[in-house]
Amino acid sequence: MLTRRALLAGGASLAVAGVTAPRTVRAAARRAPLRDLFRLGVASGEPAPDGMVLWTRLATDPLAPDGLGGMPRRPVPVRWQLAEDENFRRVVRHGTETARPEAAHSVHVELEGLDPGAEYFYRFRAAGDLSETGRTLTAPAPGSRSRALNLSFTSCADYQSGWFTAYRRMAEDHPDLIAFLGDYIYEYGDYEHRVRDQAGGECLDLAGYRLRHAQHKTDPDLRAAHAIAPWAVVWDDHDVRNAWAGDVPRRRRAAAFRAYYENMPLRRAQRPAGAALRLYRSVRWGAVANLHLLDTRQYRDPYACTGRSGTVGPDCAERLAPGRTILGPEQQDWLDAELRESRATWDLLGQQVFMMGMDWARGPAEGWSNEGWDGYVASRDHLAATVDAHRRNAVVLTGDVHSHWAGQISRDHRDPGSKPVAVELVTTSVTSAGDGRDEYPDTRNLLAENPHVRFFNGRRGYVRTRISRREMRVDFRSLAYVTRPHAPAHTSGSFVIEPGDPALNPA
Ligand SMILES: [Fe+2]
Repeated sequence: MLTRRALLAGGASLAVAGVTAPRTVRAAARRAPLRDLFRLGVASGEPAPDGMVLWTRLATDPLAPDGLGGMPRRPVPVRWQLAEDENFRRVVRHGTETARPEAAHSVHVELEGLDPGAEYFYRFRAAGDLSETGRTLTAPAPGSRSRALNLSFTSCADYQSGWFTAYRRMAEDHPDLIAFLGDYIYEYGDYEHRVRDQAGGECLDLAGYRLRHAQHKTDPDLRAAHAIAPWAVVWDDHDVRNAWAGDVPRRRRAAAFRAYYENMPLRRAQRPAGAALRLYRSVRWGAVANLHLLDTRQYRDPYACTGRSGTVGPDCAERLAPGRTILGPEQQDWLDAELRESRATWDLLGQQVFMMGMDWARGPAEGWSNEGWDGYVASRDHLAATVDAHRRNAVVLTGDVHSHWAGQISRDHRDPGSKPVAVELVTTSVTSAGDGRDEYPDTRNLLAENPHVRFFNGRRGYVRTRISRREMRVDFRSLAYVTRPHAPAHTSGSFVIEPGDPALNPA
């Protein structure tokens, strides 16, 4: 019997009753020996009540400098199976997809017609190799009131900055869904002081982005997190280039987008067309929650006042200008409609950058980030008004700032302490910024000057939630260190949010 723990350990070898390679696979295997094809693991994503996406990418040499994983420049057939049990005695779907060199031998299997609210197991086979087994789930049926959602989320996994232990600890919780909120890779070249060596230099072209993604997927902790639950991903700046805001050359953006799609368990609807990729979409979890995934990178107006990312003072009036947008008009219209039509208890907004107002300057001085929603106040005001008008229980899930924060988003930007309309939960990073510490010398001042901000922790980790129609329980999970492997995780803060009151109650 294959246990979950063995599954997490990865590389479990399985007896493969009933899986025989088709003739084409055997013929391909005869032409050239392909070994260890599944070194990038398996993944699933985009759960719906009747299906999800299954993903893998073949690579015999993940760190090959051309980003093609050591694969021959020919298509390779990949068999897949989906079963109700982890021993694959009850296979409910199977098929063959072609891993093509023009897609870096990635495979996206988009399934429909499955049972709602069900657990499944899947695996792939190619040229005689068998992948590890992944666990995945379908979402509950529309309107279903039965199941709570165990959702974990994190962001910012810089390979050079440390070990991906946070992914391992997330996997050990067996969540139903993992949301990743941006910076899955970092495009940077080599640091002088680094914990782990990365392959390749700065990502500038398709080969560079493909190679960086491949190296991440060789990490056993990340692979365990992908194998345990479906993911819903959005990107942030480093998936393309630091602090980008529409100013990246189209060629580089297209390369980053293409590698992102190839390496993520996304639906065909998210396949890029050149330098455009529609990443905003919703994942629905019965009557419990709608998770709206936003893209605050691709359509934002240029940075206010300075033209570049930074902290701006009270003389920066442009950040308050009506009509400034961080979502772009089409995405904002889409989100308005989602919130207007939502009947779920909770509307979760998975997105990249700090949304609540935050004065980062000590004392009477003011300092606002023009990269987060403070730089696009009209967009935040519009969203706050929409949430308020439709009486939605909105919880914003945010990444980017490499520390845990919890606070409230207010109806009126001029008064961050005014009527709260939503709660914001900001996850720390997987590794970015190194080990960190619980608090910094400035932390108490920041919290005192921003009373709507209720919690901070400056270590690495993730956020774990359990969401039912009655309440949302939140645990901020923190790691003692990431510059060495195997750190334990502990809960540094716990809150309960109740429908009808956007407040962070002590758990
Ligand atoms: Fe980051």
